[in-house]
Amino acid sequence: MNKVILLGAAGQLGQLVAESVPNNIQLDCFSPKTLDITDHDAVKELIRQISPDLIINAAAYTAVDNAEKQKTLANAINADAVENIANSTPTETRIIHVSTDFVFSSKSRHPYKPVDQIAPVSVYGKSKADGEKALIRHHPENAIILRTSWLYSAKGKNFLTTMLRLMAERDELSIVNDQFGSPTSAHLLAKIIWRFALDYQGTGIYHWSDRGVITWYDFAMEIYSQARQLGILNNEVNIKAIEAKDYPTPAARPCYSALDSSATETLLGVKTSPWQEELYKVLKIIKENEK
Ligand SMILES: NC(=O)c1ccc[n+]([C@@H]2O[C@H](COP(=O)([O-])OP(=O)(O)OC[C@H]3O[C@@H](n4cnc5c(N)ncnc54)[C@H](OP(=O)(O)O)[C@@H]3O)[C@@H](O)[C@H]2O)c1
Repeated sequence: MNKVILLGAAGQLGQLVAESVPNNIQLDCFSPKTLDITDHDAVKELIRQISPDLIINAAAYTAVDNAEKQKTLANAINADAVENIANSTPTETRIIHVSTDFVFSSKSRHPYKPVDQIAPVSVYGKSKADGEKALIRHHPENAIILRTSWLYSAKGKNFLTTMLRLMAERDELSIVNDQFGSPTSAHLLAKIIWRFALDYQGTGIYHWSDRGVITWYDFAMEIYSQARQLGILNNEVNIKAIEAKDYPTPAARPCYSALDSSATETLLGVKTSPWQEELYKVLKIIKENEK
């Protein structure tokens, strides 16, 4: 395997996948500026021209709340475009498609396994679930669906960077403490994607998140504590725990969506690492970038 197409290369995860490309891979990167994945003919022609061994799809409509009002667009990007990619890809070409914990509802109180029943509670979650189904239906021989959750990284807009900004600006914050999930460093996830690309020729649904099940409040408290320890934050902030019902959002969110990554651990011979350790590594990158 040496020719890979990366879709969504300018996104949070896509940038890190591009940055961590192994030496022997010829990577062709595409962002909306160079390829709109909803342009079915353009996608089909690109796949025909490049004839890749693997397509990594990190492109998505990810604005969970806006999706409630932009259902058509969310479906076009997260479901219809994925179906077209699947239909345009020759059987022997592999696809690694990134999906989300938001395909689950809140019924479980144990981390979800890949085989568990999906039941999305938002337009975004449903559109991602439809993308998964399309891929399974139209490219069953050679597709990996890799679900992840609560993705964050050193750059761009995500929970970590938003918290650091708000914590620097305010002296009090209220954070939801009754939604449970697992944060995931996009830096480590990018490497896991390359492990799938290089070391696994099979198909199926897999999960990857960092280890631990916490609330957004727990996450915020740890960000605050580690950021102060590293000197990224100097001011004091009072962080209050609130219930989701007191922080209404347009899109419903599962109150429990932790993922069980054990099948991926076994398959690739890797271990998830505690979420606090991954957070520390990402905060160190932020600290380095400040210099
Ligand atoms: N972020 C999370 O917390 C989270 C959690 C679980 C799973 N995931 C999944 O992880 C994957 C990566 O997410 P992320 O955080 O990296 O999201 P992201 O930063 O929003 O990146 C998605 C990229 O897709 C691009 N894109 C959108 N519409 C497109 C189109 N029509 N054609 C081509 N590219 C298009 C976006 O471009 P523009 O920005 O220019 O629109 C963006 O660069 C997604 O599949 C997402 O569903 C994310």
